[in-house]
Amino acid sequence: MHSAKMSSPVNVIVVGVGNRGENYSDYAVIYPDRMRLVGIADPRDFARKKIQERHKVASENTFDDWRCIVEREKFADAVLICTPDRLHKDPAVALAKKGYHILLEKPMAVTEDDCSEIVETCIQSKVILTVCHVLRYDPVIHKIKVLIDRGVIGDVIHIQHLEPVGFYHFAHSFVRGNWRNEAESSFALLAKSCHDLDLINHWAGGRRCIKVSSFGSLSHFRKENKPAGAGNRCLDCPVEGDCAYSAKKIYLDQVKKGHNGWPVSVICSNSVPDIESVTEALRTGPYGRCVYECDNDVCSNQVVNMEFEGGLTAALTMVAFTEEICKRRTSIYGSKGELTYDGHEIKVFDFLTSKTTKQTADMNVPGNFSKGGHGSADYHLIDSFIAAVMNKNPALIRSGPEETLASHKLVFAAERARLENRVVFCDEQKS
Ligand SMILES: NC(=O)c1ccc[n+]([C@@H]2O[C@H](COP(=O)([O-])OP(=O)(O)OC[C@H]3O[C@@H](n4cnc5c(N)ncnc54)[C@H](O)[C@@H]3O)[C@@H](O)[C@H]2O)c1
Repeated sequence: MHSAKMSSPVNVIVVGVGNRGENYSDYAVIYPDRMRLVGIADPRDFARKKIQERHKVASENTFDDWRCIVEREKFADAVLICTPDRLHKDPAVALAKKGYHILLEKPMAVTEDDCSEIVETCIQSKVILTVCHVLRYDPVIHKIKVLIDRGVIGDVIHIQHLEPVGFYHFAHSFVRGNWRNEAESSFALLAKSCHDLDLINHWAGGRRCIKVSSFGSLSHFRKENKPAGAGNRCLDCPVEGDCAYSAKKIYLDQVKKGHNGWPVSVICSNSVPDIESVTEALRTGPYGRCVYECDNDVCSNQVVNMEFEGGLTAALTMVAFTEEICKRRTSIYGSKGELTYDGHEIKVFDFLTSKTTKQTADMNVPGNFSKGGHGSADYHLIDSFIAAVMNKNPALIRSGPEETLASHKLVFAAERARLENRVVFCDEQKS
């Protein structure tokens, strides 16, 4: 089921064994003959020990900071960098210089210059760089690109793309959680929709984006919208029962029903989630806060309009207030037909025959990767990275340095357009 035959396993070090790092590590459990986890860096004892035990990592290869790996002789083939957004650039540059192949979580970095530095360093160091634009590896979404390249809808004229973040996902990640505050992580378009601008750029098929405009703001999750009489924490809020964003509802009621997967799984940073630890996390930690009383400042809704070479136009909408969680919806209008994707299947309407054909793909993947989220895409991403390293063939990955840098630059241009309230020409010099 994986991409290429192997010789000996690729030895990897995981830098940051939080939600994403743990997820990719599972590949070594499924295919020990393809990937072996030989090192871990994470300051959290609980997280580090859990992964160390699961993968039998030697104690001398476990560290509380990525810098310790830089100080050591190179002892693996590759690193998976899954640290928080603002901790991507320094380990990526330092570890590329040591000769490690790199799987780097998105966003590559939080400034355009840092993204460029990572790419230049990886090219100069002749290491493979894969950025975790997981959607490119989703089997159905990948098919959209295959159909476009086959000319099924003719010339691509317009792309309409929606990213529905999901009402409680937004409250979890972008109001209470790790991506709520730009100074601590990154702006919402980079944190959430760098995937979407990457796909749009990918579907544009080598046509450069010429100009971009963008509007957006933080709606609703503001102090002035706090209901009368509401408390500062959901556990002692008298009106919590009427609140869609109640932390009791999102976390405690879930764990009481025996559901301890995401998002419950990530709120107890130093213990397993159970009723006691989740209650304690809601009593004292960030996830128990009233959504109208947080230090959040990132946009909840943003639109981006783009014009590419040859007149191709594209429009992206990112919005928090949706039922669906991250099930993108896309319509691509071509000279010969219309392609729509509803987050599950693709439909192509052919203008000549007036016939509609439907396309899906095999989404089955092994192990824990099968448990929802973007498991299928995550599996194919790590599988491609390991195959690329094993075969010394960067062509096996779909999210390499140049394309990823181009789509990150598009994100920075769009955000500049929003902040400066103007159309940004993509080849203009940054001030
Ligand atoms: N590709 C995707 O679709 C996708 C989805 C979610 C998150 N992400 C990105 O993945 C990254 C990680 O997100 P997450 O949800 O796993 O976060 P997380 O907080 O669960 O994990 C981050 C881990 O990094 C560790 N860390 C902090 N400082 C460190 C240091 N100096 N050295 C080593 N480790 C350190 C933390 O202790 C933590 O365990 C973020 O950049 C995030 O934006 C990508």
